[in-house]
Amino acid sequence: MLSQVYFSLVIATVFALARSEEESTTSWSGKNASNVLRMLLDEKHYDKRFRPDFEGKPVKVLVTLFITSLGGLDEREMQFESTFFMRQLWYDSRLQFGKYYSKRNLTINGDIMQQIWIPDTYVNNEKSSSAPKQEFLLAVSPDGRVIYSQRMTVIAACKMDLRNYPMDKQNCSLLFESYGMTADDLYFKWDDTEGTGDLKNAVAIGDELIMSQFAIDGYSVNEITASYVTGTFSMLKLTFYIRRKKFYYVVSIYIPTILITILSWVSFWIPRNSPPARVGLGITTVLALTTLIFGIQASMPKVSYVKAIDWFLCVSFLYVFAALVEYPSSTFVKSQAKKLTRKGTNILRKVKGLKDDPEDFPLSGTRYGSTDKPKDESDLRKLSRNKNEKQTAVTNIHRLKTTWMVKVVTRLLERAEGNY
Ligand SMILES: *[C@@H]1O[C@H](CO)[C@@H](O)[C@H](O)[C@H]1NC(C)=O
Ligand SMILES: *[C@@H]1O[C@H](CO)[C@@H](O)[C@H](O)[C@H]1NC(C)=O
Ligand SMILES: *[C@@H]1O[C@H](CO)[C@@H](O)[C@H](O)[C@H]1NC(C)=O
Repeated sequence: MLSQVYFSLVIATVFALARSEEESTTSWSGKNASNVLRMLLDEKHYDKRFRPDFEGKPVKVLVTLFITSLGGLDEREMQFESTFFMRQLWYDSRLQFGKYYSKRNLTINGDIMQQIWIPDTYVNNEKSSSAPKQEFLLAVSPDGRVIYSQRMTVIAACKMDLRNYPMDKQNCSLLFESYGMTADDLYFKWDDTEGTGDLKNAVAIGDELIMSQFAIDGYSVNEITASYVTGTFSMLKLTFYIRRKKFYYVVSIYIPTILITILSWVSFWIPRNSPPARVGLGITTVLALTTLIFGIQASMPKVSYVKAIDWFLCVSFLYVFAALVEYPSSTFVKSQAKKLTRKGTNILRKVKGLKDDPEDFPLSGTRYGSTDKPKDESDLRKLSRNKNEKQTAVTNIHRLKTTWMVKVVTRLLERAEGNY
C-alpha cells in the first residue's frame, strides 16, 4: 500500500519534471512578445470595440500615401482607378508595452486585425475598392504607437468637364473619411513626414506610375470637414491634376479625319465630265467619315454639351458633305444659268432690235425665223398674228424696262453675254 503511494508519487514527479523540461525546450524566441501581446489583449484590459482614449480627446490618425498606379480614367463612366499604399498612424495607450518588453517593436500578422481597434477609413467617392485581407503591415511601438499599412485598389468617381475633350485637364480626387466616427471621436491629418510643414510630403507618387493616356501635372492635399445628418466628419482630400495625352487622339481620330476630308477634295481634280468618279468619291468619303464618327461617339459619354471633338468632327463632316454636294449643285446651277442666259440673250436681242427698228424685228427662237419666207396665206396670217403678239410683248418690255430691276437684269445679262 505504502509502496503503491510512493510509486505514484515518483511517477507524478517524473511527469512534472518532464513537462517543465518540455516547456523550456520548446520556448521560442518570440515567446515573451507573445505573452506580452496576450496580456495586452486580454479581455480585462482591451475592448476592441472602443477607440483609444474613449472618454478623452479624439484619436488623431496620421495618413501617408504612396501612389503606385493611377489609370483607367474613364470619361464614359466618369471614374478612375488608383492603387496605393495607405499608412495610418495612431496612438493606442492600451497597447503600451514598454514596461514588459523593450527588445523591439511588435510587428504582428495573422488575425490581429480582429483583435485590436483599427480606424474604419474608407474612400468616400469610391465606386468599388479592394484591399487584400492577408497583406498588411501592423507594428506596435513600446509607447503604444500603431502603424498600419495596407494596399488598396480603388475605383473612384471623378466628375469631369469634357468641354475641351480630348484636350482637357481633369481634377480627380480621393476623399478619405471614417465611416462611423465623427470628428469628436477621430480626426485625420496628413502626416508631414519630413517636418517641413508642407502637407504634400504626406503623398508620394511612384516613379513607375502606369499611365498610358494621361500625365500628372501635380496634386494637392487638403484637410476638410464634411457635415452630414449623422454628424461632422473629418476628411482628407487628395486631388490629382491630370492632363490627357493627345497623341492617341491625334493618331486615331484627327489624322484619319483630316485625311478623309482632304480625300474629298481630290474630286475637284477629276474632270467634270466623269460624274461616276466624282459622285462615287464624294459618297465614299461621306460614308467613311460617318462610320468613323459613329465609332468615336460610341466611346464617348453622352453629355448634354458640345465637346471640342464634336466641333472638329462636325466641321469636317460639313466639308466632306459640301465637297459631295458641290458637283451636282454646280452642274445644276450651270445648266440653269445657261438656260437663263439663252433666254436673256433673246430678250436682249429683242430689246436691241426694237431700239434699232421696231418693224424689222427678228423672229429668233420661233418657228418663223426671219430667214423663213411666208409661203401661203395661212402662214402670212400666222406671221401677222405673231407680229401683233410681238408688238404687245415689245411694249410690255418697254414698260418693264423702266423698272430698276429690269435695268439690273439687263446689265447682268449684257455682261453674261460678253462672257459666254
Ligand atoms: C523572457 O523574459 C525573461 C525575463 O523576463 C528572460 O529571462 C528570458 O530570457 C526571456 N526569454 C526570451 C526568449 O527572450
Ligand atoms: C520601432 O519603430 C519605430 C518606427 O518605425 C522606430 O523609429 C524605432 O526605432 C523602432 N524601435 C525598435 C526598438 O526597433
Ligand atoms: C483644377 O484645379 C485647378 C487648381 O485648383 C483649377 O485651376 C482648375 O480650374 C481645376 N479644373 C477643373 C476642371 O476643375
